Amino acid sequence: MRQLVINGGKRLEGTVHISGAKNAAVAIIPAVILSDGVCRIENIPNIMDVNYIANIMHEMGARVNRINKSTLEIDPSYIRRPVADYDIVRRMRASCYLLGALLGKFSQAEVALPGGCDFGVRPIDQHLKGFGILGAAHSVVGGMINVKAEHLTGGHVYLDVVSVGATVNIMLAAVKAEGRTIIENAAKEPHIVDLANFLNSMGADVRGAGTDVIKINGVKHLNGTTYSIIPDQIEAGTYMVAAAATGGDVMIRNVITKHLDPITLKLREMGIQVEEFDDAVRVSRAGELKRCNVKTHPHPGFPTDMQPQIAALLSIAEGTSIVTEAVWDNRFRYVEELKRMGAVISVDGKVAVIEGVKELNGAPVKATDLRAGAAMVIAALSAKGVTHIEDIEYIERGYEDIVEKLSALGADIRIIYTDDGVAQRA
Ligand code: EPZ
Repeated sequence: MRQLVINGGKRLEGTVHISGAKNAAVAIIPAVILSDGVCRIENIPNIMDVNYIANIMHEMGARVNRINKSTLEIDPSYIRRPVADYDIVRRMRASCYLLGALLGKFSQAEVALPGGCDFGVRPIDQHLKGFGILGAAHSVVGGMINVKAEHLTGGHVYLDVVSVGATVNIMLAAVKAEGRTIIENAAKEPHIVDLANFLNSMGADVRGAGTDVIKINGVKHLNGTTYSIIPDQIEAGTYMVAAAATGGDVMIRNVITKHLDPITLKLREMGIQVEEFDDAVRVSRAGELKRCNVKTHPHPGFPTDMQPQIAALLSIAEGTSIVTEAVWDNRFRYVEELKRMGAVISVDGKVAVIEGVKELNGAPVKATDLRAGAAMVIAALSAKGVTHIEDIEYIERGYEDIVEKLSALGADIRIIYTDDGVAQRA
């Protein structure tokens, strides 16, 4: 077993460079399947989820060549069977993008039912509804989803709920379908725009990404391309909150400041200074943290993937704050872990009421999912004393070199190896 050990109370100072966006990478890598040539993808984050999806592509027959830490070259032309049935598929939500990519390329696909972080039901009814409108029938047999179309033709999809995954999957299935596809009530996240730009760099015709209506005119062929992934909005937001939580002064480089707007505005509401530059933000805290209310919402609202992190910060802000999770059914599992560190939070359904305390205290805690793990790191960095965080594999799924990046900012953080709970020095 491995644990993160953090000795809190150190101000974070200095510069951190943001890696490529996880949620763009896990959509763009499967999208390579649609290409008739070799694709070179740059600025890929070196994280578990990317390695998982790259391994699945390799298992399916694609030639995946790692050029360097952040660049992959993928030749999909050796994929013979539109089937992805591996344990690894079940462990990762984003593997469901293989459905859209394989369907778009081969008019059929067979993929194991997806897994992913555990915060409530994670249905794919909207994905399947979109596939159906494009002419594909589906069935679920033995834990595998099968989708098949005699002939994929464009159609008019109205999403009942704003879904990133459904928007991605329908885009992937539609780019080579005959005729025009319209996706209404589409997700507008930065990674949706990045995927559209990637597809268009291969010769697709996708317009309107970033708005709630995406129009796609099907094309016959998609060529190989070279593409660089956008910086990770959520990784950047996580470091912004960590800087605020420790009363630090951190320059966060390689960001698209527009993508950070909902996070920047919320931090400023809490009295945090956020200075914007061309491709960087500087976060510092002068006085006391102020309470505020947060409600998550699809982009450009406050990102649900920043909800646990901002809650950790509000736990040490003076006054009572209310956090409403409007995207997921149950994304407060981390609250019990924060309370072990002295946070005063009560949860009722989709609402958490946070009574700010002067400071948190180090304790043994768990990462209950990826962003919950990030929240525990933020709490531990600000806390008095030492915190041990278990199940750090969740954190490593989405944060490249987090120990190195935080250590470079002055954090006292290390990984130790434990043998049935007994800590041994790393
Ligand atoms: C993506 O998940 C992200 N994952 C999640 O980030 C993120 O929390 C989420 O979008 C919202 O932004 C990846 O991009 C790999 P959704 P996804 O479909 O696509 C409901 C992280 O931390 N819904 O936008 O699975 C669903 O239940 C991860 O990086 C349906 O009802 O999310 C939820 O309430 C965690 N039917 C809402 O829509 C469907 O068919 C939004 O889900 C699909 C979704």
